[in-house]
Amino acid sequence: MRGASGRLHHLAFWVDTREECLRAADIFLDAGVHIEAAPSKHAVAAGFFLYGFEPGGNRIEVTTGGYLVYDPAREPLIWTEAERARGQAWGVKTVESFHFYGTPPTVEDRAYALAAGVSVVVPPPP
Ligand SMILES: [Fe+2]
Repeated sequence: MRGASGRLHHLAFWVDTREECLRAADIFLDAGVHIEAAPSKHAVAAGFFLYGFEPGGNRIEVTTGGYLVYDPAREPLIWTEAERARGQAWGVKTVESFHFYGTPPTVEDRAYALAAGVSVVVPPPP
């Protein structure tokens, strides 16, 4: 994420099934929550996801599948650049904003939010 120092990329909320991710997408739609990335699947992590922006402007993810590890002794998985470059499954392209948008927002983030019609609370730059 460009300008990433001290900024939040996203918070994730775990659900048990893909159907619950799809239901969350419907709830986002009904509630006017901006959907940044519709439900899909990360390629290397194999997690099913939905990304949107909560009213404060923070990116949130609803996710399931992939890896959910409770064992602190488990060795970390380290993916290669080539594995990470696979992006999303099923031919889905990662949305560009995923590579730059964060909170607190930069001037570029504010412009993105306004252009996308995101009704978020984005404080002006200092
Ligand atoms: Fe995530």
